[in-house]
Amino acid sequence: IHRFPLIKVRGVPLMEHIAKNWSSIWAFRPDPSDLLISTYPKAGTTWTQEIVDLLLNNGDADVSKRAPIPVRIPFLEIFSPPPIPSGLDLLQDMDPPRVIKTHLPIQLVPEGFWDSKCKVIYVARNAKDNLVSYYHFDRMNLTQPEPGPWDGYIHKFMKGDLGWGSWYDHVKGYWKEREKRNILYLFYEDMKENPRREIIRIMEYLDLSLSVDTIDHIVQLTSFKVMKDNPMANYSFIPMPVFDQSVSPFMRKGEVGDWANHFTPEQAEMFDEDYARQMEEVDIPFRSNI
Ligand code: A3P
Repeated sequence: IHRFPLIKVRGVPLMEHIAKNWSSIWAFRPDPSDLLISTYPKAGTTWTQEIVDLLLNNGDADVSKRAPIPVRIPFLEIFSPPPIPSGLDLLQDMDPPRVIKTHLPIQLVPEGFWDSKCKVIYVARNAKDNLVSYYHFDRMNLTQPEPGPWDGYIHKFMKGDLGWGSWYDHVKGYWKEREKRNILYLFYEDMKENPRREIIRIMEYLDLSLSVDTIDHIVQLTSFKVMKDNPMANYSFIPMPVFDQSVSPFMRKGEVGDWANHFTPEQAEMFDEDYARQMEEVDIPFRSNI
């Protein structure tokens, strides 16, 4: 296993194996029935994938036992070391409607998605919790660069010097385009506060209408506790040991406000001042304490 260095593609640092295959990713032609789930890494991607998959399959619990999440919902830009198939390879063999995952910032999403008017669900998570989750992920993900010391990691995050680039640019990019491009923009904190309400929002966006019982069932199947124990969702079931879950489990805590256990008051103050500058031009209603 190799920790890939980051190489910039149009100014955005991506892992070397993604950057090297950039032209095939950019050329991807989606089908109009394709659904894209997009996030900055660690914002609640897997959770949303599981919800969407269950909604599309009428709450059939077998769905969440069928294939591991990275296989049944391919990761568009991932070109893994063999024998893991690339996202593009997996997509080629799938029947519509396909659900696709990406962490690409909006300007790097292949234009075919907009030409085909594909539905796009974006999930955003408050900056400090997102940073904490990414820090632990970079410790355990043996393909991403080492996170280094905690204090330095905060600065890397603020500078956008991490895989998939700047959190600030990412959340702002999708926010500004959400109306024009009919993007469903969700917040991790809303999903924690009232998962049922947010699941219904996703259901309506997908033009589905499921029974109350089915919705309740999906709420239960997509709880942190159930997903943590589901090998198809907790990434214990992937073809190669790219994650060392003994360092930090993929389903780590699943909470809002864990940042307070990591940031010193001085670090939080410094971070918040910089945040105000970087987020000045938009008013995205993030919450970090619920
Ligand atoms: P933590 O590291 O804070 O625990 P992603 O899927 O985008 O990689 O995001 C992973 C984060 O989402 C992790 O956050 C993980 O625990 C959390 N998560 C995954 N499933 C969840 C669920 N059902 N409910 C709440 N949080 C969940």
